[in-house]
Amino acid sequence: MDGDDLSADEIRQCALMREHIGAAVDSAGGWLSFEHYMELALYAPGLGYYSGGARKFGAGGDFTTAPEISGLFGACVARQCAAVLALLEGGCVLEIGAGTGRLAADVLARLDDLGTLPARYWILEVSADLRARQRDTLQRLKPALRDRVEWLDTPPTRQFDGVIFANEVLDALPVARFRRDALGFAELGVAIAQRAGAAAAPLFAWAARPASTAMSAACGALAAAAGANWADGYASEYCPRLSAWTAAVTRALKTGAVLWFDYGLPRAHYYFSERRDGTLLCHFRQRVDTDPFRHPGLQDITAWVEFTALAEAGKSAGFHVAGYTTQTYFLAGNGIDREMQHLAGADRNRLAYLAGEARQLMLPGEMGERFKAMAWLRGLDLELSGFTLRDLRHTL
Ligand SMILES: C[S@@+](CC[C@H](N)C(=O)[O-])C[C@H]1O[C@@H](n2cnc3c(N)ncnc32)[C@H](O)[C@@H]1O
Repeated sequence: MDGDDLSADEIRQCALMREHIGAAVDSAGGWLSFEHYMELALYAPGLGYYSGGARKFGAGGDFTTAPEISGLFGACVARQCAAVLALLEGGCVLEIGAGTGRLAADVLARLDDLGTLPARYWILEVSADLRARQRDTLQRLKPALRDRVEWLDTPPTRQFDGVIFANEVLDALPVARFRRDALGFAELGVAIAQRAGAAAAPLFAWAARPASTAMSAACGALAAAAGANWADGYASEYCPRLSAWTAAVTRALKTGAVLWFDYGLPRAHYYFSERRDGTLLCHFRQRVDTDPFRHPGLQDITAWVEFTALAEAGKSAGFHVAGYTTQTYFLAGNGIDREMQHLAGADRNRLAYLAGEARQLMLPGEMGERFKAMAWLRGLDLELSGFTLRDLRHTL
């Protein structure tokens, strides 16, 4: 099953996770929704991928994100934040899911240069080991910057003005899986495939059951809105908690902007009839795989973000959806070329190196088109530079 050279600790952690999920399957009567499975595999206290100790970033880690590739990403995010903070004449920043802390460090350093430091820089983070890593990273900043940083266990409750942003966090929100069948829709969930002896940790497999009336209606509405003609066997996913979760983490923002960065598509493209098995992807040691049952607790499980649903979530939370574009145009609109000059100064070798990083962030075959940016505004009328070069809201 593995062939992945798991360490003894990893084998133990994965077995505990399997037992934990197995118990949840048993107590649900032998079938667990995929949404619940994904929640446990990522967030079960002490065992889940984000709540346990799996090594997620860097050498031996599972993935590389835009801020890890280059400081240019953080510099451009900082420029966008600076425009909002300048208009507000102050405010706070909330970063959701800060990874290694690299993005926070880059954003704070650039906001300092621009003279628009936020009063507080909050980080909402679920992972204890990543929080420790963020502390290490941010410890290297000068006191005037690092003293502004504060970690939150839950979204802020007191109202504030400022900016909220998240890079590659929405793709971890648990999704529900469905399949088009001859008789309608089935919900794809999880059952125990094999339990070799009372002491062995269970293995899991997909198991379908007829979708509830609510899920069938939701799937029918998605197909109609996407103008899709799904064949029998077509499977995909949607994120039932997207609206509630995004409303909860942005509720305290009185005036300001929310910036979401992630890979994804608008509804019509997401549910394209030819994409017959959805967008679920797992990351383990830089390898991408589609099997969410392979190493529960050790592998990241993600689904692409459906940006039309994200725009609807923003509207229902009382925001104006102020922009939607690709990562390429967001970075270009925030002056990535100028940021390159700024970071390189007179060092021509450094400039060449940064140009290579910019290509990785911007080329269509790399991250440039797959990754998107979306902005929500509340109580502010502002043209955001990251969304003016190419506004793709008409595709939502
Ligand atoms: C793929 S990493 C991205 C990290 C960072 N934003 C970057 O771009 O490098 C996802 C981050 O979101 C955090 N995270 C995942 N689910 C979360 C949730 N529900 N609330 C807050 N943080 C979450 C993870 O612990 C991790 O720090």
